This record gives sequence, C-alpha cells and structure tokens, in this order.
Amino acid sequence: MTGTPLEELREKVRELTDRARRPVAITGAGVSAESGVPTFRGEDGLWKRFRPEELATPEAFARDPALVWEWYGWRRERIAPARPNPAHRWLAWYERRKPEFLLITQNVDGLHRMAGSRRLVEIHGNLWVVRCTRCGFETEDRRAPLPGLPRCPRCQGLLRPGVVWFGEPIPAEAMARAVEAVQRCDLLLVIGTSAVVYPVAGLPDLAPQATLVEVNPAPTPLTPRAHVSVRAPAGEFFGPLLPEAPG
Ligand code: OAD
Repeated sequence: MTGTPLEELREKVRELTDRARRPVAITGAGVSAESGVPTFRGEDGLWKRFRPEELATPEAFARDPALVWEWYGWRRERIAPARPNPAHRWLAWYERRKPEFLLITQNVDGLHRMAGSRRLVEIHGNLWVVRCTRCGFETEDRRAPLPGLPRCPRCQGLLRPGVVWFGEPIPAEAMARAVEAVQRCDLLLVIGTSAVVYPVAGLPDLAPQATLVEVNPAPTPLTPRAHVSVRAPAGEFFGPLLPEAPG
C-alpha cells in the first residue's frame, strides 16, 4: 500500500481503529522524532555517535557510573523541552474511546504520559525515574542534568536511571501485561519503531489474529507482514485524525 495517497490511508486507519474492540499500539523512538527527541538508529541516530555497550549496560555503569550519568544527563537536557506531538495526542485520545486499548512504548521520554496516556506500559522504563542500586527505592526526579553522582535520599546508595539496559530483562509485570494484551488484540498499531530490539520486536509474532498497521517513513522487518503500511511521519499522519483537526 506504499503508493496509496495519505488521505486514503487515513480513512482506512480511521475505519480500522473505529471498529477495533481490543486494540494495542506499540511505539518506538520514531513517535517522538517530531517532538525533537533523537532516535537510536538511522542517519542521526544516537547509536551512530555513541556505543550502546559503553553507555547502556549494567557493566558500563559498574565500570564508570559518572560517564553513564553524564550521558543520561545530556539526554535529560535534550528531552526536557520536548512536548507531545499529534501522534502522542491521538493515542491519548484513542485510549479514552476504547476501554480495552493498551499502549506499549519502548520510549523512556515520558511524552505519552504527558499527552495524557494512562493505560500505558513503559517497557524500557522512564528517563525521569531514578532507582537506588542498594535499597531499590524509586522516585521521579526531573532535574536535567542531575548534579554529579546522585545519591539515594533514604540510604545514600548510588542512584541509577530507571530504565532497562541492554542485557537486562524487561520487568516481569510489564512484559506479562504487554504479552497478554498483544495475544488477545484484534488490531495492532506499530508506530515509529525499527522493530529490531527484542523482546518487543517479537510481540507482533504473538498476534497472528490481529490486523497489523505500521506507521513509519522507512521499511522495517515488520513491513512485509503489515496489512496497512503507512510510510509517513507519525505526527503528520495522525494530526488530521484528531477530532479537533480541521477538515
Ligand atoms: P530506533 O531508533 O531503532 O527506530 C526508530 C524508527 O522510527 C525507525 O524505524 C525510523 O524509520 C522511524 N521514524 C523516524 N522518524 C519517524 C517519524 N516521524 N514517525 C514515525 N517513525 C519514524 O528506535 P526504537 O525502535 O524505539 O532501547 O529502538 C528500540 C530500542 O532500541 C529503544 O527503546 C532503545 C534502543 O536501544 C533501550 O534503550 C533498551
């Protein structure tokens, strides 16, 4: 459906999303690209400039926590001014219409929550959460950057970012909620993810029963299986589907 005009695809997506009873959306960094948040892969991707194994692993943090915190401080500063775009807003609006909808995001930027999404699984955690490496205490801390090496207010242990790193498992409860919803969904929207990082990349395999809609300006390993493939930026595509949008 690559050559189909955008307006026709919007009508198709409007129809599918209206009709769905148990819809699920999976989002990745691309949904926040139009909010100014850099993606990980691709031309301007973060992993072009930084090596994940030097920054986003438990080993890297054990070796040099200051370096890892510096990187997260920099990301906090980049992301702090970002605001939700029409794709985030459409997903929040859609949630209010569909009691069984679940949004699964790989993003740690918090923009879905800021847009109003509540039935949300932040499967890779949240950049604005800090967690104590000693006592497990967790809290939100929106300072950008955090001063030096942040310490736990309870036990003075070293705090770490509340995100999932490479080599770490997804928290069991988040994974179970995502798997359960995907297995019983009738519509799966996959928006702005390169669909290469597991286990999230494997979720669509659990939904052979669902109609698969992909929104991504570039093809992904999932594209050949999509029933509807929208090759457009997510904000641009979903903007006119918002109820307050003109026309
Ligand atoms: P990627 O950076 O791998 O992929 C971003 C995707 O968004 C690409 O397929 C782009 O084509 C697409 N894209 C770019 N601009 C877009 C737009 N305006 N609208 C829609 N799509 C757009 O990001 P993720 O798939 O989210 O993990 O990466 C998955 C995980 O890898 C991340 O959660 C992170 C990373 O390492 C952890 O940190 C654990």
